[in-house]
Amino acid sequence: MLRTHTCGELNEKHIGKDIVLCGWIHRRRDHGNLVFIDLRDKEGLTQIVFWGKELLKKIADLKSEYVILVKGKVNPRPKGTENPKIPTGFIEIEACEFKILNSSKTPPFEIAKDIEASEDLRFSFRYLDLRRPGIAQKFNLRHKILKSMRDFLDQKGFLEIETPLLTKSTPEGARDYLVASRLNPGKFYALPQSPQLFKQILMVAGIEKYFQIAKCLRDEDLRADRQPEFTQLDIEMSFVEEEDIFALIEELLQYVFKQALDISLKIPFSRLSYAEAQKKYKSDKPDLRAEKEKFKFVWIKDFPLFKYNQEEKRWESEHHPFTAPLKESLTKDLRKIRARAYDLVLNGAEIASGSIRIHQRELQEEIFKILKMGKKEAQERFGFLLRALEYGAPPHGGIALGLDRFIAQLSGDTTIREIIAFPKTQKGVCLLTGAPSEVPEDQLKELGWKLTKKRRG
Ligand code: AMO
Repeated sequence: MLRTHTCGELNEKHIGKDIVLCGWIHRRRDHGNLVFIDLRDKEGLTQIVFWGKELLKKIADLKSEYVILVKGKVNPRPKGTENPKIPTGFIEIEACEFKILNSSKTPPFEIAKDIEASEDLRFSFRYLDLRRPGIAQKFNLRHKILKSMRDFLDQKGFLEIETPLLTKSTPEGARDYLVASRLNPGKFYALPQSPQLFKQILMVAGIEKYFQIAKCLRDEDLRADRQPEFTQLDIEMSFVEEEDIFALIEELLQYVFKQALDISLKIPFSRLSYAEAQKKYKSDKPDLRAEKEKFKFVWIKDFPLFKYNQEEKRWESEHHPFTAPLKESLTKDLRKIRARAYDLVLNGAEIASGSIRIHQRELQEEIFKILKMGKKEAQERFGFLLRALEYGAPPHGGIALGLDRFIAQLSGDTTIREIIAFPKTQKGVCLLTGAPSEVPEDQLKELGWKLTKKRRG
């Protein structure tokens, strides 16, 4: 290691010690024969004092965001200059030697102050934006939330299993991102809109309790709460009914709130049927917070199974086509059939969605038929699922929690772009890398593709 300590850990106990610190120059204050530098690393800030003609001459060029290594001695701060607001505020380092590890151009916005910069500029220089203390804290929170979710599910006997990214279309109501296959000319993989079908197949495989912190990819119009790639806490369980899923998620969220935020969350959450919610609140995402209330969760259940697409004059699934119907609601009038589907709403935003699934081939085929999917098409698109359902598929159900939306709510952000390390703009552009971009002709040729002039724009 280049350093003996971090910039957040030295205090009065270390007075008199010789130490080495590394970090970025956060702030520099010149007082003639003394120069103060606040050195910053991931753990905090430490004040360094430089004095003496020779040393001051050497540090004349040091500017904000230069990366330096400092050797020195821990001293108490002079009386009246202490800063009780930071853990290192009672000491300072008397520098005896330093080394520039790297220089830095002047950043396009200030790192040290919480100065408003345009989103375009911030995301183009996201590595500088992420250095800002307020922003870094959001990723601390994100890490804690994910860790506590993993810990909780591990304790409950869930297995984390990764499912493929290069796969077949998994319909969740958006367009697919397609990837051309070089080894199979003219054929495409679809990037998964969710791990839905794989998690159901894992239930057929006898896994019983599955989870994954899963990347989902959807080509849809973007909004403040929608990104083309986002993360779900994806869960599936065998031999369960709605209330088992509700209880698991309530306990999980109670654990996460305690571990990550030290908040005691009251469970169970209230439950409302879709019909009740529409009647009472004219919404399936009601915000039920009383005045000044931290957070309010509510389950919305018994959604309609189908919705009618006026434009295309056909029925569509309200959730997805793998959702089981509520037996007692079965009737010839498709409008009246309810689904064993549920959403979890937090402060008026849908943060999770799930259902009890169809686990019998005949019923699944019946649903495809209602959705006007012919036998041939159903076989081509979902034959692998239909076949798996014939080999002792257990009753199963699950849920997926949109982690970006959930974390944005917890950190008080109005857009999920803030809590994604490298987000995309409303037009799906990554400002840091410039993706999506054109590709060399050779690469297209290998895939058997040629762009027309019109396509090239
Ligand atoms: P659904 O499509 O409702 O269900 O997605 C579950 C949750 O994922 C979040 N979400 C998004 N977050 C950010 N950007 C997006 N574009 C985006 N789309 C969805 C939401 C949503 O509640 N396979 C099913 C789940 C299941 O049935 O188990 C599914 O993906 O918070």
